[in-house]
Amino acid sequence: PAPGWVAEADVVVVGSGIAGLTVALRYAELDPTAKVLVVTKDVLSSGSTRWAQGGIAAVLDPDDTPEEHLNDTLLAGVGLCDVRAVRTLVTEGPDALRRLMARGARFDRTDGGRLQLTREGGHRRDRIVHAGGDATGAEVQRALVEAVRASAIEVVEHALVLDLLKDAEGRARGVTLHVMGEGARDGVGAVHAGAVVLATGGMGQVYSATTNPVVSTGDGVALALRAGAVVRDLEFVQFHPTVLWLGEGSTGQQPLISEAVRGEGAILVDHDGTAFMRDVHELADLAPRDVVAKAIMRRMRESGRDHMLLDGRHFGEERWRSRFPTIYAVCREHGIDPVHQPIPVAPAAHYASGGVRTDLRGRTSVEGLYACGEVACTGVHGANRLASNSLLEGLVFAERIAADIHAAGRPERGEPVASPAPGGLVDPRARTRIQAHMSSGAGVLRARDSLAGTARALRDALWTPVRVAPCTESWETTNLLTVATVLAAAAAARLETRGSHWREDHPERDDDEWLGHLDVTLTEEGL
Ligand code: SIN
Repeated sequence: PAPGWVAEADVVVVGSGIAGLTVALRYAELDPTAKVLVVTKDVLSSGSTRWAQGGIAAVLDPDDTPEEHLNDTLLAGVGLCDVRAVRTLVTEGPDALRRLMARGARFDRTDGGRLQLTREGGHRRDRIVHAGGDATGAEVQRALVEAVRASAIEVVEHALVLDLLKDAEGRARGVTLHVMGEGARDGVGAVHAGAVVLATGGMGQVYSATTNPVVSTGDGVALALRAGAVVRDLEFVQFHPTVLWLGEGSTGQQPLISEAVRGEGAILVDHDGTAFMRDVHELADLAPRDVVAKAIMRRMRESGRDHMLLDGRHFGEERWRSRFPTIYAVCREHGIDPVHQPIPVAPAAHYASGGVRTDLRGRTSVEGLYACGEVACTGVHGANRLASNSLLEGLVFAERIAADIHAAGRPERGEPVASPAPGGLVDPRARTRIQAHMSSGAGVLRARDSLAGTARALRDALWTPVRVAPCTESWETTNLLTVATVLAAAAAARLETRGSHWREDHPERDDDEWLGHLDVTLTEEGL
């Protein structure tokens, strides 16, 4: 549809989690008279950041070193991390965290006033800062939203991003949006801008059960694909090992039981009470996430159960309430008392380690288009993200993007040449079918036949051009189908098991053939 309104900005940031708001705040600091516009699909405080529990990993303990954080990250990423990106993350992380604190975020401290540090899976040191016990993301989001509200940054809420606008040279010059109920800027419109930053978060809603909120529908990756940008390693979807099991067939956003619960001493047990992680990995319950998720799935299969148990009864009520107030409350809401019974848990989709490929300055393969946070693939996560590295990645690379845009001088706004041709939209009623096919065929366990079945289902049954009204639901469903199709194709192509990509028919890691990345671009001919 043709834009009904046009707004102008020097920099437009799409998304309002830790990545998007940090880019906006940093750029506004560097160029205080620039017009920075943040557009966000729901309200400023929605999105994945506020759901983060565990915390932010950073080297703050005098006995810890960036080299150790680097080694833990590389080990979790199983050979596919970009070492330069990880080095950037671990060396610039502590300062980026301090700047977040300077922007107003308050983290838990010891009685002596030092930051409390805890441990999570794959970390060999205590290096996770947290807030409100297990409400780190909520505190980070609160602080950043307040800082944005107190600044000159302009915000448009209820604005679903549609497509990238480019100039005659192919440089990004803005985005089209669908805005609901924001006064003069209602309906389909356009923002013309000198630089575009995608910070739209993840795509967990591509599966039936996920820790991600309903807004995580892969909009940024789908936009980037339509814009011809390179997307990397979509097959590496991390399944969080311990998500509260709500019963057979439960779908949608599922409550997370943070790794920090295991970091503080809770133990995974099967239905006979056997602590099964001890025989699996030297770090036992604190092994990297893919190792724990696979061990749980194996135990579930062997025992014919649909969940395992996480035993933290020994914490006692006082510790549950003070250290994990969010998790304690959510368990009680679902009729589980973690003081007196083990918590039923199962893995669910949690984090996209792949995404829109960027360099160390957050630049994508399309000039003027940047990507930051979960939507991006900077190279820090490889085949499996280390716990609590994601908020850190958002912080570090957001600062780099703001600096990169600023270093070249204020970007010229330019004139977009034409809006992308509107493609067919997918019937929103297909959403649950896409999710079901992805979970059954391309989920935590995959094999050639299951992936082929999913690909067929996505292609034949769902990619039928039906006349549907352009609305948020149909655009979201179209985006879900786009990213699902690429994800399933990448998972079918990678004939090995590595990190969070678990092929039952290729159970071994294959460094001779597969120590590399899968880059995808969408052309008129297809993938
Ligand atoms: C958790 O608290 O277990 C989640 C942390 C993360 O995904 O990094």
